[in-house]
Amino acid sequence: MRVLVTGGCGYIGSHTCVELLEVGYDVIVVDNLSNSKENVIDKIEKITSKKVKFYKKDICDKKGLEEIFKKEKIDAVIHFAGFKAVGESVKKPLMYYRNNLDSTITLLEVMNEFNCKKIVFSSSATVYGNPKKLPITEDFPLHTTNPYGTTKLMIEMILNDLYISDNEWSIAILRYFNPIGAHKSGLIGEDPNGIPNNLMPYIVKVANKELKELSVFGNDYNTIDGTGVRDYIHVVDLAKGHIKAIEKVSKDKGIDTYNLGTGNGYSVLQIVETFKKVNKVDVPYKIVDRRPGDIDSCYASVKKAKKELKWSAKLDIEQMCKDSYNYVKSNK
Ligand code: NAD
Ligand code: WQD
Repeated sequence: MRVLVTGGCGYIGSHTCVELLEVGYDVIVVDNLSNSKENVIDKIEKITSKKVKFYKKDICDKKGLEEIFKKEKIDAVIHFAGFKAVGESVKKPLMYYRNNLDSTITLLEVMNEFNCKKIVFSSSATVYGNPKKLPITEDFPLHTTNPYGTTKLMIEMILNDLYISDNEWSIAILRYFNPIGAHKSGLIGEDPNGIPNNLMPYIVKVANKELKELSVFGNDYNTIDGTGVRDYIHVVDLAKGHIKAIEKVSKDKGIDTYNLGTGNGYSVLQIVETFKKVNKVDVPYKIVDRRPGDIDSCYASVKKAKKELKWSAKLDIEQMCKDSYNYVKSNK
């Protein structure tokens, strides 16, 4: 089966390519490299000893995408491509709406044209906004607090309308919680340019002495130690969830939404302490004000994915901390 992976050079996409190749799928990647590098393809090939067909193209380019579909006879698509930085989306909303929506609509139009109607889409737990209770189930009310999140919600709505208009589609919407970690080879992982926005990349840079100290955003939340609680999931577990989702869209028509998390919440300080212990490094930190827009706690109910996709996360928080650090150490 031939799977087109949009955004396949990125953090989650590259790990998913590895898992797809390892279970025998043919993988075609399209990525404009706006937030990734082409050498990721060599690394995916090195890990798997398999070939990947790569197209450096923007998926808003309809003609370019049509050429790929004509040539490659695509059976299904996993759609990762998009911009993902919450803070940047507040400053540049039009850039986010243009890229995330235009790319998705163009992709869906081309898929329709080539009668390829199986898609797995990367959504986010951000669509739950500030949940009223925990754990979060897929039927919770949806509400967004920033343009990035709104693009995810709008795409979910577009996919729903598309399915209503044509029941031949098979659509899986995956809502990721907080992906961290890296492939055990140390060849692929996450290493954002500049000062990271997210917790784990920031901790890694402090441990590596590239940044002086971590700012912990608030210790007066209603949580175990006052710091924010999140559902961190190893990116390799997340990638494996996509294999199950591709199997599902390959056999069943319909539209389904799944949380991909572990179901466990960890606080910022629990992550810092685990990271220090497993990597035997210091991570100096100071407590600062809350970050606007942050919530106390967020963790998934993972029952639906377990029951319907026969998937659950296996790797623990210690492994996530080890692998996150290993990737950056291996690449310095
Ligand atoms: P990433 O930035 O590492 O990967 C996205 C890839 O898409 C990049 O390689 C980028 O170059 C490419 N891209 C962007 N716009 C494109 C376009 N128009 N045409 C072609 N390629 C394009 O991000 P990631 O962390 O791997 O996230 C993948 C997906 O998962 C995104 O849709 C993101 O919103 C979603 N998601 C990520 C997280 C997270 O915390 N990382 C959480 C929830 C959801
Ligand atoms: C985690 C915890 C912070 C940085 C974001 C997006 C979400 C999704 C995943 C894409 C919080 C605290 C953080 C720091 C800190 N992405 N923190 N110091 O905010 O849960 O989710 O990434 O869909 O949409 O919003 O993740 O890693 O930024 O924060 O204390 O320097 O760490 O306050 O409690 P978040 P995060």
